Amino acid sequence: MDYAIVLLLVFLCHEVFTVSSSKLPHLFHKHQTSSLLKFKNTLTVDTSASYLCQEPYPKTSSWNMSRDCCSWDGVICDEMTGHVIELDLSCSNLAGTIDSNSSLFQLSHLQRLDLSLNNFSNSHISPEFGKFSSLTHLDLSDSNFCGQIPSEISHLSKLQSLRLYGRLRLIAHDFKLLLQNLTQLIELDLTSINISSTIPLNFSSHLTTLRLGDTALYGIIPETIFHLPNLETLHLWENFQLSGYFPKTKWNSSTSLQKLQLSFVNFPHNLPESIGYLTSLRYLYLQNCNLRGPIPESLSKLTCIEDLYLQYNSLNGTIPSGIFSLPSLSRLVLSNNHFSGQFEDFNSNSNSLILIDLSNNQLQGHLPNSIQNLVNLTDLDLSFNNFHVDVSLFSDLKQLLYLSLSYNTIDEKEVNSTLPESLEYLLLAACEVKELAFLRSAKHLSNLDLSNNKLQGRIPDWAWSNWMSLTTLNISHNMLTSVDTIPLQIVYTIDLRSNLLQGSLPVPPNSTTFFFISYNYLSEEIPSDICNLTSLVMLDLARNNLRGEIPPCLGKITALQVLDMRHNNLSGNIPTTFSNGSSLSSLNLHGNKLEGKIPQSLANCKNLQLLDLGNNNLNGTFPVWLGALPDLLVLSLRSNKLHGPIRTSRIVNMFPELRIIDLSYNAFSGSLPSSLFQHLKAMRTIDPSMGAPRYHGDTYYEDSITVATKGFYREIVRILYLYTVIDLSSNKFRGQIPSIMGDLIAVHIMNLSHNGLQGHIPSSFGDLSSVESLDLSGNQLSGEIPQQLASLTYLSFLNLSHNHLQGCIPQGPQFHTYESNSYEGNDGLRGFPISKSCGDARVLDTNDTVSGLDDEESNSDFQSDFWKGTLMGYGSGLCIGLSIIYFMISTGKPIWLARIIIEMEHKIIMGRRKKQRRQRNYRRRNINHF
Ligand SMILES: *[C@@H]1O[C@H](CO)[C@@H](O)[C@H](O)[C@H]1NC(C)=O
Ligand SMILES: *[C@@H]1O[C@H](CO)[C@@H](O)[C@H](O)[C@H]1NC(C)=O
Ligand SMILES: *[C@@H]1O[C@H](CO)[C@@H](O)[C@H](O)[C@H]1NC(C)=O
Ligand SMILES: *[C@@H]1O[C@H](CO)[C@@H](O)[C@H](O)[C@H]1NC(C)=O
Ligand SMILES: *[C@@H]1O[C@H](CO)[C@@H](O)[C@H](O)[C@H]1NC(C)=O
Ligand SMILES: *[C@@H]1O[C@H](CO)[C@@H](O)[C@H](O)[C@H]1NC(C)=O
Repeated sequence: MDYAIVLLLVFLCHEVFTVSSSKLPHLFHKHQTSSLLKFKNTLTVDTSASYLCQEPYPKTSSWNMSRDCCSWDGVICDEMTGHVIELDLSCSNLAGTIDSNSSLFQLSHLQRLDLSLNNFSNSHISPEFGKFSSLTHLDLSDSNFCGQIPSEISHLSKLQSLRLYGRLRLIAHDFKLLLQNLTQLIELDLTSINISSTIPLNFSSHLTTLRLGDTALYGIIPETIFHLPNLETLHLWENFQLSGYFPKTKWNSSTSLQKLQLSFVNFPHNLPESIGYLTSLRYLYLQNCNLRGPIPESLSKLTCIEDLYLQYNSLNGTIPSGIFSLPSLSRLVLSNNHFSGQFEDFNSNSNSLILIDLSNNQLQGHLPNSIQNLVNLTDLDLSFNNFHVDVSLFSDLKQLLYLSLSYNTIDEKEVNSTLPESLEYLLLAACEVKELAFLRSAKHLSNLDLSNNKLQGRIPDWAWSNWMSLTTLNISHNMLTSVDTIPLQIVYTIDLRSNLLQGSLPVPPNSTTFFFISYNYLSEEIPSDICNLTSLVMLDLARNNLRGEIPPCLGKITALQVLDMRHNNLSGNIPTTFSNGSSLSSLNLHGNKLEGKIPQSLANCKNLQLLDLGNNNLNGTFPVWLGALPDLLVLSLRSNKLHGPIRTSRIVNMFPELRIIDLSYNAFSGSLPSSLFQHLKAMRTIDPSMGAPRYHGDTYYEDSITVATKGFYREIVRILYLYTVIDLSSNKFRGQIPSIMGDLIAVHIMNLSHNGLQGHIPSSFGDLSSVESLDLSGNQLSGEIPQQLASLTYLSFLNLSHNHLQGCIPQGPQFHTYESNSYEGNDGLRGFPISKSCGDARVLDTNDTVSGLDDEESNSDFQSDFWKGTLMGYGSGLCIGLSIIYFMISTGKPIWLARIIIEMEHKIIMGRRKKQRRQRNYRRRNINHF
């Protein structure tokens, strides 16, 4: 180091130095400085390291010898001694690691150390942190430390504030130790740290802030925690295994709690009246807490309350009108409970309310006039109740941005009333809307849902010109007869499904990414202008009468993921334009009049998961090259004119993910393709995680396919991942059934009926442990039914009729359930249910437990599990949200599902706002640090 600079520095530091503190002042100043500089040099500045901060800046960049170290950014020295006592480097874009020999640990006089919101690259927290014996404040939160929190932290017995928020672990023993030794703690923030322990009892009585959210705590919440004498903030949210009671007593008017965040903790009881004593309370978050019973009247005494979140509980009774009059209340969320009765008039002398969400309850009657006075309201969600809504009540709410009235009734007589111009989100699904006149004044809408109403005819021109800022428009499930043009500008999603639209396909603006217009009566050819929509991700034209060719240019829209044109009158060839880089994951052309060969260019669609070309006039041989598609789950070529033997090529791992293959009603010949069955990895393995749906990325669209099962056709929607089907029926296959088919142990439905198959039923079929439906009828099978079939406990449908089978029908628990038509038209089958006599020695051991699951039931079971899974995973955003809507509408729209969807949309919006808020909080936090 340059000696002159060191001298200068020593001189500078000298100025603030007082002799009393040390015999060697020059040295320790020099030391401090060089320690800090060394520390700075072990880290790099990375502009993405503090991405959570509103205004990160690299404090260390300005550190150099030209100024007194005590005047450096983020450094504070003791005025008397000159020691560095405070180092605040939060949001400083620091990246790198701090290991045990870091020069940071030479700053032994530190009292406050803040390294939060940087990126320490998944490194561990060094035990050396435990040597800062003077430390009163330590903040390492959100700085990408990981691993176990060293037990040495508990040596910091002067700590008043400890924040470690992040992906760290704390073993239960260290947690107790920590609390035991840190008796001065005022603030403890261990949010998101994996503690996995019960809550210890020895909290410091000085605590004002205790944040233990999302820490995997379990057991019963000790009531004492609610009674810590100075506690103002208590966060225990998302500790799913914690449960507790709200104290019925002991809370009194001197309780200082201001913020109580207990969502996703189990409190399976009523809220006690004593909650009214928490008169300092400003924020109460009790969503998803399993609370029940009525809201206690005493809640109306919480005069400081600003946020009251009680959604997703089982609260019932009427909503005490006093709540709406709470003078400081700004956000009130009571959605998804069982509240009933009227929304009573309330005394609205205060208009601090900005958000009210009462959705998903059983409230009824008219809305109170007092709503008109809530002039600061921005969000109002009353959806899924039984209100009769007079929309004129909202005309004075000049701040209103979000209004959802879906699944209520809008009173028709008020069609002229004006909605506030500020509205951006207007959700009016299933509100019995017949006319649009009352929308005239809403000119800034970005999201409009008019689905499931009674709109007829066409959309008036004035409406289109009012909707110039729309990005999402849903008018599905109405009775519109014509939409000639869609003169919007920046729209992304247009949903016109299930109307009575006629004429040619309207082409939406080129910004459209999701366009749904299935279930209408559109005819004529698809205009090639549709290819101007270069951002298209989903195009759903299913179930119309569109004719002519599929515009080849569609193959060139590389963003396109879902192309659904099933059930139209399309003719000609399938375009050959699909090129490398195509995003197509679902191509459904089922039920048209397409001819020619299956284009080999489909092999360029590497993301293809579903290919349904069934019910067309396609010609040619089996497209074996599709086997190279790594993600193909569903292949249906049913009912075409495909022919010839199925020969597999030498591709090593063909059709690895295929779960549904339907080649029925073609003219395939030769023997059953044993070489194909050797591949099909997904059908040969039972994945233990198969109970849960599997996600292939974020692109979660709806697919449906019709399969023949148990003698009926049924449409399987969106459970493709779970259903495994092999249908080779009604072809010209001959020869023996290869015994290797018994390896397809994951198959649920197997149909080989109506071929020319001969020989015995392979005994290896006894290994098809998942099979629920097995149809071998209409062949020339001979010999006996293998006894092994009796062990197939899920087999609920068996058809062996019209073969040449002989001998005794096996006896077993499932075999008792098949009717005699399962066996009719054979040469010589005997035994139950055909005849009573077949010896007696063939009864299988019935101790084998049989689940006896009725398939219908098990299917709906897993569908509902499936939905739970989906909804939990919805967070990945818009695409998922939309595709679920897509699902909902194309499956006849169960109301409960629709409710969830709307909620989700709302949440996505709220989520965005929350994120903004979070950023603001960071900002605030940076300002009032410590
Ligand atoms: C408690 O803190 C003191 C220093 O203040 C330390 O010596 C002792 O080891 C700590 N105890 C535990 C259990 O960490
Ligand atoms: C509220 O729910 C409880 C059961 O939790 C029930 O006993 C009570 O009758 C319900 N009250 C109302 C008003 O529905
Ligand atoms: C409405 O909001 C504004 C700005 O936030 C605030 O100044 C005003 O006091 C609020 N009105 C009422 C009645 O609370
Ligand atoms: C609605 O407005 C139209 C024209 O603005 C008017 O003719 C009609 O009488 C109004 N209807 C009601 C119910 O106010
Ligand atoms: C949409 O069309 C406009 C002109 O009409 C053009 O400027 C714009 O680039 C097009 N956008 C896309 C995504 O093709
Ligand atoms: C599509 O693009 C073509 C050529 O760019 C243009 O002539 C046509 O008007 C566009 N169609 C629509 C509906 O925008």
